[in-house]
Amino acid sequence: MNKAIKVGINRIEFSTTENYLALEKLAEAHQIDPAKYLHGIGQSKMAVPTPDEDTISIAANAAQDVLNTMTPEEVKTISTLIFATETGVDQSKSGAAYLMGLIDIHPNCRAFEVKQACYGGTAGLQMACDMVRARPDESVLVVACDIARYQQNTPGECTQGAGAVAMLITANPDIIEIDAERGCFSADIMDFWRPNQFKHALVDGELSKDAYLNVMASSYQGYLANGGKPLDQLEWLCFHQPFTKMAKKAFEHLSAQYPEQMADKTDAAYSISQQYGREIGNTYTASLYIGLLSLLDNAEQDLTGQTIGFFSYGSGAVGEFFSGTVNKNYRNAINTLANQQKLAARTALSYDTYCQYMYQLRDYDQANIRYNPTSGSNFRLAAIHDNKRVYERVLEPMSKAA
Ligand code: CAA
Repeated sequence: MNKAIKVGINRIEFSTTENYLALEKLAEAHQIDPAKYLHGIGQSKMAVPTPDEDTISIAANAAQDVLNTMTPEEVKTISTLIFATETGVDQSKSGAAYLMGLIDIHPNCRAFEVKQACYGGTAGLQMACDMVRARPDESVLVVACDIARYQQNTPGECTQGAGAVAMLITANPDIIEIDAERGCFSADIMDFWRPNQFKHALVDGELSKDAYLNVMASSYQGYLANGGKPLDQLEWLCFHQPFTKMAKKAFEHLSAQYPEQMADKTDAAYSISQQYGREIGNTYTASLYIGLLSLLDNAEQDLTGQTIGFFSYGSGAVGEFFSGTVNKNYRNAINTLANQQKLAARTALSYDTYCQYMYQLRDYDQANIRYNPTSGSNFRLAAIHDNKRVYERVLEPMSKAA
């Protein structure tokens, strides 16, 4: 591997739904103390997709936002579009192929989908970094998107969410250089899965929390053995966040295992990366990278030159520990105000409307159905016609690439 070439994230944008459910309302409906969700689980809001929103439409918003920052010449360098999800809409056709018809990208690229639970976004990112190391003139667009959905009235319900992240991977990136050193750990574990016939995930909650922590420990050991930086050289930590309390557990686990390396770290090392996730809920493949954006947007100090340790976890299970260093141009390359406004401008739903959107009206089994425009987003699922999904772009192309 040519480690001399610096590669990493040159642009990053996120999207989520325009509607959310406040977890106090869920607690009221479940007749439990809201403090369990707000503090015990550590979530305050859950992004709720309307019936005309799915992983493709939510992902298209984030991907188009990245393309809107690029010149036509820059767009031409995209050799590959990688779509990561565990909420796929088709067993055969990839979400990336659907995106090709929606966003302002050129057709001379390979487009495909990757899946390994919440790890898929990292699989895409690392694959993209290696592609760019091999061909530094090319860039790769990685889009990760999921709708986290559990059976109604089960313990996982309060951790639901929806969102996407799109990242442009290039040489000499403006935002963060991803180090070549990494540690991976994979094993066959039945902690969380979604059989083909199910619309919601099945989960062994306690096993999933243990698996997460054990896979993290093994991944970190592998990262160190491969020449990675010890924890005391990583100023910040970004963990996969199924709910923010899980990241706290991850931090405490590392502190207990490596007290000397963690001695100087306070909760601030990971808690800024939780601000967006607390407001959105679990976004599976996108969650780690929405955490990164939360850190970049909300850390008051200049992060230039500082190093971030990342832990990505996908149930089933695959984990990866890796690191990256923030570039001096990062503040110009992210759209902090727009990101914060996206969350501030959302609409609060009643519990009944949430139930309709999340459970009663999300029936994609029908061969023919039209969806009313409800989402207010730039891209929407307009219909299913003869078992074909029909998407609609609401706004005219805005991209410099158009
Ligand atoms: N006030 C404050 N805190 C309270 C409280 C109250 N009134 N009542 C309970 N709590 C606390 C509990 O003490 C507990 O805290 P600790 O974990 O620090 O002990 C916390 O609230 C949660 O309580 P429970 O453990 O009783 O919660 P639960 O069993 O009802 O549900 C869960 C928790 C099993 C994680 C469930 O949310 C779930 O199944 N989630 C989906 C699976 C998941 O996210 N697993 C994470 C690892 S897998 C992964 O990371 C991949 C992925 O994205 C899915």
